Amino acid sequence: MTSDAAALLRRAAFRMDPERAHESALRALQVGGPALAAASSWLAKRDGTVGQRLMGMEFPSPVGLAAGYDKYGRAVRAWGRLGFGFAEIGTVTARPQDGNPRPRLFRLPEDEAIVNRMGFNNDGAAVTARRIADARRGSGAGVPIGVNIGKSKVTPLDRAAEDHLASFRLLRGVADFVVVNVSSPNTPGLRELQDRDHLTAILGALRDEDASMRRRDDRVPMPFLVKLAPDLPDEQIEDAVDLAGELGLAGVVLTNTTITRDGLSDPESPVAAEQGGLSGPPLRARASAAVRVAARRAGGQLVIVGVGGIMDAADAWDRIAGGASLVEVWTGLVYRGPLIARDITLGLMDRMRDEGVSHISEVVGSDLGA
Ligand SMILES: Cc1cc2nc3c(=O)[nH]c(=O)nc-3n(C[C@H](O)[C@H](O)[C@H](O)COP(=O)(O)O)c2cc1C
Repeated sequence: MTSDAAALLRRAAFRMDPERAHESALRALQVGGPALAAASSWLAKRDGTVGQRLMGMEFPSPVGLAAGYDKYGRAVRAWGRLGFGFAEIGTVTARPQDGNPRPRLFRLPEDEAIVNRMGFNNDGAAVTARRIADARRGSGAGVPIGVNIGKSKVTPLDRAAEDHLASFRLLRGVADFVVVNVSSPNTPGLRELQDRDHLTAILGALRDEDASMRRRDDRVPMPFLVKLAPDLPDEQIEDAVDLAGELGLAGVVLTNTTITRDGLSDPESPVAAEQGGLSGPPLRARASAAVRVAARRAGGQLVIVGVGGIMDAADAWDRIAGGASLVEVWTGLVYRGPLIARDITLGLMDRMRDEGVSHISEVVGSDLGA
């Protein structure tokens, strides 16, 4: 697909209802599998300078798909072919759920932003695990596939650990890494799970369950990450990073969407007034700062995944230089189109060449000083 064709498709999609457009894009990726496979050496163009071994696996590009785009695991094989270096499927909950009533996804084109209150619509862990397993058979996904899990809406907060455990038991066999999402603004009370006690209960239970399952099946330890909100004060991000270290987690993902409406060109617009989380460039500065806070605190001991307002290679470079080893995009895929992973990856390679850097790992944290 050329950039012109991509632009044409994007214009057509923007005339549709946002959620219908999203569903159409996913369907196209599903049915277009063979065409994607044929084009994948062009779409997934890159060289070894952007590949990294992290959490015990190879990431051919640092540019991944953020959680919430492929909630149902419908296009697992497409992401690597499209040029992404990894993908996070989900959020998946223990029980299937419909999410909030529509409309629940809104565009703010003047800011290239989105407001959403999807509310974890998904098929539940059992069905999603089967779907991912099917997709991974044979030649598989070609890139690491993470599964993002969250609390079912009907489960009270004090039983969140059990709910996550139920999902984990079903999804462990199909995930290369697991992200615990305690930062969505669209499940009532969910973000309270970011406090130390709740996080310890949930992540400690997952880690212990993994260890006990490993005694039976001898798998490698599951890398666990926790995904945080941009609206946490810096001290709470630092505390979560400390806790991640104490619990032996692999990393942290920063950030989810924000409940603020900072940085919008028209804060009074009807979409700005919709309830939900804001994503895209208005989130960029806070998400970038949050990565720096976490990276300084982690001191190289955790994998930092940067997400929020990454639209091009310059944004990705900034996030990586701020300490992220990996970055993810969601809103950029809507506004910059399906070639975004390729564009960012090639843009990073160009800049490394210009700056005389021989490997992406040298960029990671290069902004943080000694
Ligand atoms: C419509 C929509 C649905 C999302 N659903 C999820 C989700 O299910 N789980 C999750 O962890 N993050 C979810 N996110 C948040 C993204 O993964 C990402 O953290 C956020 O959008 C910031 O990145 P961006 O600016 O590139 O979009 C969702 C975002 C959008 C726009």
